[in-house]
Parts: sequence; C-alpha cells; structure tokens
Amino acid sequence: MDGFLIETEGLTKYFGETPAIKDVDLHVKKGEIYGLLGRNGAGKTTIMKMLLGLTKATKGTIQLFNKPFEKPEKSILNRIGAMIETPGFYPNLTATENLEILASLRGVIHKDAVKRSLEQVGLSYKDRKLYAEYSLGMKQRVGIAAAIIHDPELLILDEPVNGLDPIGVAEMRDFLKRLTGEYGKTILISSHILSEIDLMADQIGIIHAGLLLEERNYRELKEQNMQFISLKAEPLQRVIQLIDEKLRVKEYQVKEDGTIQIFNTEIKTKQIVKVLAENGVFVDEVCRHSDTLEDYFKKITGGEGIA
Ligand SMILES: Nc1ncnc2c1ncn2[C@@H]1O[C@H](COP(=O)(O)OP(=O)(O)OP(=O)(O)O)[C@@H](O)[C@H]1O
Ligand SMILES: [Mg+2]
Repeated sequence: MDGFLIETEGLTKYFGETPAIKDVDLHVKKGEIYGLLGRNGAGKTTIMKMLLGLTKATKGTIQLFNKPFEKPEKSILNRIGAMIETPGFYPNLTATENLEILASLRGVIHKDAVKRSLEQVGLSYKDRKLYAEYSLGMKQRVGIAAAIIHDPELLILDEPVNGLDPIGVAEMRDFLKRLTGEYGKTILISSHILSEIDLMADQIGIIHAGLLLEERNYRELKEQNMQFISLKAEPLQRVIQLIDEKLRVKEYQVKEDGTIQIFNTEIKTKQIVKVLAENGVFVDEVCRHSDTLEDYFKKITGGEGIA
C-alpha cells in the first residue's frame, strides 16, 4: 500500500532450528514515529537488522520506500540512517572530529553535514569536550547525529534511550519529535520500556517472542484499553445476564474473585448501578480504573518472568 516507508510481510528469521521472528507484518507510515516495543530477547534488534540487510530473513518480504528490498543497495541504504549497536567513536576526539571522520568515510560531501546533524540532535558544533568526557545522554545523541549525517529520510534506532534518566528520555523524545515534525523524517524506534516511547510514538508494535502481537495507533490504544470499570455484585450469573442483555456491554471479564471488569465502554458507573438496582441487584462495589500502560504491556506480553 502507498504511504508506508517500511512494510514487511510474513517476515521470519530462524537461527538454526529456532525461530526468532515469526510472520511479522510491520507497517511504518511516512512521517511517523513507530515504536517497536518488546522485552529483552523479543526480537527487536533482529527485525531492525533484517530491515537494513545486516542479517538475512529466512522467509517473507520487505518493502522499503515502496520497493522490494532484496539485498542491501547503496541507493536504498543512503536513504536510511541507523543506530543498531552502540556505535564506536574515538574517545580522545571531540564529537565534531568524530563526525567529520565518519562523514568523509561515508563520502558525505555536503560541507555543513556535521554542523547540521549536531544541531539537529541539540549538541553544539565545535564543542571542545572530548567524546570520552560526554555523558551517556550526549553519547547517545552523537550516535544519532552519526545516523543522520547523510540526511536520510528514514531512521532506524535500536533502543536510543536505553540507560537515560527521565530527563534524558524527555530530551531525546523532544528532538526525535522535532526530527519528524520539522524535518519530516520517519522513525522506527525500539524500546523495552513502554514509558520511554510514551508521548512520542504515533504507532506502536508490540513484539513478543518473535511475534508482532499488536500494531496499533498509540493514542487509540491508550484511549481504548487503559480504562475499565470494576464491579462487584451478586448473584454473579444474574449480574452477567444483566450486563449482556440490559447494558449491552460486549467486552468484559470476570476475575477469579468474582470482580467483573468492563472495558471499552462509555457507560457511566451510575447507569450500571441504576440498571442493576432496577433489576433487583444491589452493587457492592463499582469503580472506574485507569490501568497504567505498563500494566497493559505486561498483560499482553504475558506478565513478568517471560524474557
Ligand atoms: N546471531 C544470533 N544467533 C542465534 N540467536 C540469536 C542471534 N541473534 C539473536 N538471536 C536470538 O533471537 C532472539 C531475538 O533477539 P533480539 O536480539 O532480536 O532481541 P531484542 O528484542 O533486541 O532483545 P534486547 O531487548 O535484549 O535487545 C533471542 O532469542 C536471541 O537469543
Ligand atoms: Mg536488542
């Protein structure tokens, strides 16, 4: 389909006999920040490496910029900037010197390329500080500056906020958003912590044990899944019947302790109490909850303990 900068179909990767990525259909739209979210070992890095031709897919197809990507070609790779593993920089040189070396190695001819890429990530050009003296957050920025030195349209960043403190995360978020908002870039970013890509991702893909469990607009996902009403009333069978027939609620679940959780509803708690009371059921407890996004992520990836 038109408008996707990255589109995969049935993307699959085996390491020996073991499938690491299974049938992944990824859709990254132009101009958006797409957050690939998954726990350690879920398959984020492997997907990104396949998109860059750094590792070969076992099965499936990849389209980049609406063209089939079969093998790494300069004309395609020039349009992509990536930060996969922590890039190596010379510790005893400044960021500017490091980037100048990189620019010449990559054949970047634009004379302002280093200055521009440093500015885009919010670092000052010709700063005298050595790379070794930079904080982790600054080092991550140099890594991203290196990824955008050739002014690519698409950025693939593997855990760029890993290890940053909350302020570092917020700063990174702001400049990544600026890269899409002001400079029109498209960004595929991975993380294992939902809060790191909160307020930044337009689209989210949840990857777990090599499967893409969910691919959704992040705002919609938040609106629809984070709220539920919990209800305690007896007798349970009668309550369930009333929920189905009178309140016409479709999405709910009954917990082990008999609490009913009602999802995706505009219904007011008052209305629930009223309808149940009119039908002879008195409510013990009713309460509206906002689940945290982290809870939701844990819920769909099977909770703690799965790596
Ligand atoms: N070169 C390799 N050889 C064998 N198995 C591999 C190789 N690379 C990755 N894997 C396996 O593939 C799975 C996915 O790994 P991957 O590195 O893509 O996960 P990830 O989501 O990036 O994890 P993390 O958050 O820890 O970076 C893991 O089970 C991993 O052990
Ligand atoms: Mg990884």
